[in-house]
Amino acid sequence: MTNGKADSTQSSGTAGGQAAPATAPLNLEALRDITYGMYVVASRKGNKFNAQIANTVFQITSQPPTIAVSINKKNLTHEFISDGKVFTASSLCEETPLPFIGRFGFKSGRDGNKLEGVNYKIGVTGAPIVIDNATSYVEARVIGQTDVGTHTVFVGEIVAADVLMKKACMTYGYYQTIKRGTTPQTAPTFIQKKVEAKPALARWRCLVCGWIYDPEKGDPDGDIKPGVAFEALPENYRCPICGAPKSQFEKLG
Ligand SMILES: Cc1cc2nc3c(=O)[nH]c(=O)nc-3n(C[C@H](O)[C@H](O)[C@H](O)COP(=O)(O)O)c2cc1C
Repeated sequence: MTNGKADSTQSSGTAGGQAAPATAPLNLEALRDITYGMYVVASRKGNKFNAQIANTVFQITSQPPTIAVSINKKNLTHEFISDGKVFTASSLCEETPLPFIGRFGFKSGRDGNKLEGVNYKIGVTGAPIVIDNATSYVEARVIGQTDVGTHTVFVGEIVAADVLMKKACMTYGYYQTIKRGTTPQTAPTFIQKKVEAKPALARWRCLVCGWIYDPEKGDPDGDIKPGVAFEALPENYRCPICGAPKSQFEKLG
């Protein structure tokens, strides 16, 4: 500091000379600009396995290589990671079908074995590593955890990692805008979506997971071409994400 002027090399917290406002905006739309990937996070409890979708996997340090993930305390995966102290994260490719994401992201391992019929291998930690639709994986031993109310952030030191195929991996943004996927309330990034009104053919919303059938787009994962009205869908039609039947859809006004 010289002559009463702020030294430009020191941060005063009032860049541009503006004083800090008395009240700050809290526009949570800003959180949409934080980007993520899409992962199947798996763990074990004894010789039992479970896996769930998580978008909150991120790298913390490179020396040693560590990652973290935020897991809801209600999830079976939380119980498994807390017990087994290990987890794996498989990065999903853009072509991953919605029902695959629905199986791990909208259903709990408490209601059935979600890994049945899915290709996985056992890692060095004894935890399962999901191979189907995965571009790569990392495997970690928990070295720390932070209680953040509804969730626990698990920090893991990477003990193994590999690339499985050279394909574009799915970002959370791609899942939401291109795949038109939804997120359950247990996800840390859950935001109640506003629904805009009035296309020519009515849209219908799944009451279970919130996915919207938009006739203008059809349902590529269910082989339904654009232009098919919801009423014209076969009676055995099911929500591509959570598998709910047609009767569990509500018409949007
Ligand atoms: C796109 C998407 C992202 C999700 N991200 C997370 C996450 O980061 N952390 C979390 O705890 N749950 C997340 N979830 C929710 C869990 O996958 C979901 O609650 C799952 O059913 C838990 O299964 P489990 O009880 O077998 O562990 C996400 C779900 C979806 C569809």
